[in-house]
Amino acid sequence: MRTLITVATLLKLMRKHVIGNWKMNGTWAELDEVLESLISGDYPCNITICPPYPYLAATTQKIAHAGLGVLAVGAQNVSQFEEGAYTGEVSATMLKDCGCSVVVIGHSERRRYFAENELDVESKIRRALACSLSCVMCVGETGFERDAGTAEEKIQLQLAPAIKMLAESPLGLSLSIAYEPIWAIGTGVAASGEQIVSMHEFIKGLVGDVPVLYGGSVVAGNAQAIMQLHNVDGVLVGGASLNAAEFSSICYSAIG
Ligand code: PGA
Repeated sequence: MRTLITVATLLKLMRKHVIGNWKMNGTWAELDEVLESLISGDYPCNITICPPYPYLAATTQKIAHAGLGVLAVGAQNVSQFEEGAYTGEVSATMLKDCGCSVVVIGHSERRRYFAENELDVESKIRRALACSLSCVMCVGETGFERDAGTAEEKIQLQLAPAIKMLAESPLGLSLSIAYEPIWAIGTGVAASGEQIVSMHEFIKGLVGDVPVLYGGSVVAGNAQAIMQLHNVDGVLVGGASLNAAEFSSICYSAIG
């Protein structure tokens, strides 16, 4: 029995991870359609769906009811503070209470529109880990940085908090990295296989055996090819996760 549990856990760990980031989109009725299709499928991967805050509790209740072990609920952000007078913020404890098990931290839109920096990212990861939330930390360079040849420099800078925390925790952290080149997000132009492989190798060289996901214009038409690339442990999907058929097709292609 003990061996069986270990093998099952290992198999789950070896599966690709597909994350759907709904951002600030959709109504409950629209998002519920995507959930219905996820619940009725039999997917070869672990799936995390990240709805806007107001829909978190309803999403976790719906998934719990379906009893699906491969489907998790994540938040798109978390406060760096534990609790108190921080109007509009949501704490890691609250996310945990709502049934979340994952949180996306440092998405480029958070960095760009809400001025989040490496210190914020580090505090958020620490808060989330303290509440046993699994963290997906996003990194990515701008088109300008890629053209200037400074993409790796930028990624290394953004990875600094993760490298520091991993060094403090010899047993490892519940942490994944999402490499999301900013120029590829929402543009319809994903990074090329070569660009992805080379950056994932660079990232793994810095963080070791930490899962690395790719994000940026992943759609049904390119998901399988991307997930079969060396060192790609899954994908973070924005726009295409809002459409039930498209997202379902991405999840079915998560093999390799
Ligand atoms: P996209 O977004 O799939 O719409 O490009 C990805 C993301 O921002 O996580």
